[in-house]
Amino acid sequence: MKIYFAPMEGITDGILRQTHQKIFGGVDVYCLPFHKLTQTLSLLTREERDISPEENEGLNVLPQALTRDPEQLSAWMYYVSECGYSCADLNLGCPSPTVTKKGRGSGMLRDPGYLRAFFDRVFSSTLPVSLSVKTRIGYESAEEWPRLLSLLNDYPLAHVTIHARTTSEQYTGAVHPEAFSLALRIGTPHPVYNGDLKTVDDIRNLVSICPGTEAVMIGRGLLANPALARMINGGAAAGEEELRNWYMTLYEGWKDRFHETLALGRIKKLMEWPAGDDIRRKRLLRRAKDIGSCIDAVTGTD
Ligand SMILES: Cc1cc2nc3c(=O)[nH]c(=O)nc-3n(C[C@H](O)[C@H](O)[C@H](O)COP(=O)(O)O)c2cc1C
Repeated sequence: MKIYFAPMEGITDGILRQTHQKIFGGVDVYCLPFHKLTQTLSLLTREERDISPEENEGLNVLPQALTRDPEQLSAWMYYVSECGYSCADLNLGCPSPTVTKKGRGSGMLRDPGYLRAFFDRVFSSTLPVSLSVKTRIGYESAEEWPRLLSLLNDYPLAHVTIHARTTSEQYTGAVHPEAFSLALRIGTPHPVYNGDLKTVDDIRNLVSICPGTEAVMIGRGLLANPALARMINGGAAAGEEELRNWYMTLYEGWKDRFHETLALGRIKKLMEWPAGDDIRRKRLLRRAKDIGSCIDAVTGTD
């Protein structure tokens, strides 16, 4: 099973990616959070750093763009190529209203006519790197999916990551694995399943519902359990010392890069996932004033 670590803006930066690979591993591709492309094509300092070869040394990464402008996408793909990467991803999945109301992210799914014109333009010339997309299965309704999928199948995409929900469904509620089955059935090139994979059993269930699944993308499941990819590959669960090392290394990395207060805020945001629905742990985490108390809140046994 090929495993992609999902892009998560504000969380899965270079420090997290490098630390994860060193301590837990098991991930084949680390996806970079989106670069929001602009007319001038100037990237933010943090975006430039995030895609730089130094930041990603030794990692297999997939950069991602958020744009509805084909010329911007093509120009950015040249930049991706200059950075030394061979594939780039287009975000057709972001459900945030601030993004979709500008017709970007999953907002592009609302207008299949424009989406087709966009891809016609992008693929009208030779591209410097291959292009993949990360999509949802519709804007309002899953009934849009067969038409969207057939549109995507008309283009030479390197792979298609499918978050098995519509835009309206955001990130909660039941997923629609049957939408992924359809992609497998009609021969979409290299479909990657995404959505709510949190345990090894979730993967087994997915494979039993969708036989032939060859690749998955995992986000929140890896934040809650950073050893999940290793476990899917038959490896061990995370030990307590390993988890302490994970959180401490991340904190130290973020402290060196940002500032103590920001680093603590960032680690607390990450630790909300392993804390899950445990109200006591969440309360301890909220009150924690230093990294030691944060780690105790999330890994402590009493
Ligand atoms: C805080 C946060 C930031 C995200 N940032 C991105 C992003 O930059 N690009 C993207 O394609 N998806 C982004 N996503 C969506 C995730 O990549 C993933 O599709 C989503 O969490 C569902 O997968 P999961 O159920 O395995 O977590 C983000 C999700 C969250 C919660």
